[in-house]
Amino acid sequence: MTVPTVALNDQTSIPQLGFGVYQVPPDQTEATVSTAFEVGYRHIDTAQMYQNEAGVGAAIASSGIARDELYVTSKLNNSFHEPDAARRAFDETLERLGLDRVDLFLIHWPLPTQYGGDYVSTWRTLTEFVADGRATSVGVSNFQPAHLDRIIAETGVAPAVNQIEVHPYFTNEAARAASIRHGVEVEAWSPIAQGKVLDDAVIGEIAAAHGKTPSQVTLRWHIERGDIVFPKSMREERMRENFDIFDFALTEDQVAAISALDQGEAGRTGPNPDTFDWIPG
Ligand SMILES: NC(=O)c1ccc[n+]([C@@H]2O[C@H](COP(=O)([O-])OP(=O)(O)OC[C@H]3O[C@@H](n4cnc5c(N)ncnc54)[C@H](OP(=O)(O)O)[C@@H]3O)[C@@H](O)[C@H]2O)c1
Repeated sequence: MTVPTVALNDQTSIPQLGFGVYQVPPDQTEATVSTAFEVGYRHIDTAQMYQNEAGVGAAIASSGIARDELYVTSKLNNSFHEPDAARRAFDETLERLGLDRVDLFLIHWPLPTQYGGDYVSTWRTLTEFVADGRATSVGVSNFQPAHLDRIIAETGVAPAVNQIEVHPYFTNEAARAASIRHGVEVEAWSPIAQGKVLDDAVIGEIAAAHGKTPSQVTLRWHIERGDIVFPKSMREERMRENFDIFDFALTEDQVAAISALDQGEAGRTGPNPDTFDWIPG
């Protein structure tokens, strides 16, 4: 099964399907990611705040997979937005992953009400990691249209991606459209809404018509909209199910029917990035 790639605005590319490790316990991360590698995943999405980068690194080290066949993303802890703290935190990410380079490093949250509202110098700091060759690409996560507009206007550098909550109950069209307008690829986090969309009647009907599962149909919907996804599962059979989405296609009407399930803000499962201000103690 060949996973398609998406071209980024910095002339690199990213596998459109990956494996997310949010809420994978640190002591189970090496085994879980090793199983994901066996299934065929080559793109791993972790973060400093998930506290499992070392497990991802251990799975990479024991995998025998060539470095250039892997795509590894991590994200800056909310505690480390100040430039010197971000530099130190990035050094530690590379150390924990056992890598001399990540493929992608993101500002995890904009935190517009923290750090004097200055996420611009944090963004400028991330661009240093591209300049020194230790990050192939850099980007942002949970950036609202105004946050994107501002970092691009003030630095002249557009992020490669914006990783935001997107699923059938929260299609997040304003943030998607702003990203696309700036040439920033959209990564859809919680692509199956942590399972909340899987009992939906519309999705179930479309799944039955294709002989596929609700999770496969939902992930396929993202792929056809052009977004990048990395569903998480601790179970091998679900990892296989979520990987097996490239042998069928939805009709335009089916894509539209799933998009119509959007509930606006009521469908959001995570925090609102405009007000989210959590800094780990
Ligand atoms: N940037 C951010 O702020 C942010 C926020 C959230 C997530 N993310 C990223 O996005 C990734 C994915 O999001 P997520 O982990 O929140 O949620 P998700 O991938 O939408 O859903 C994961 C949940 O669904 C279950 N599941 C997975 N496949 C299934 C299937 N085929 N059938 C039934 N249930 C299934 C999993 O349970 P089991 O594990 O028991 O199978 C788990 O509870 C994360 O791992 C992380 O990398 C980023």
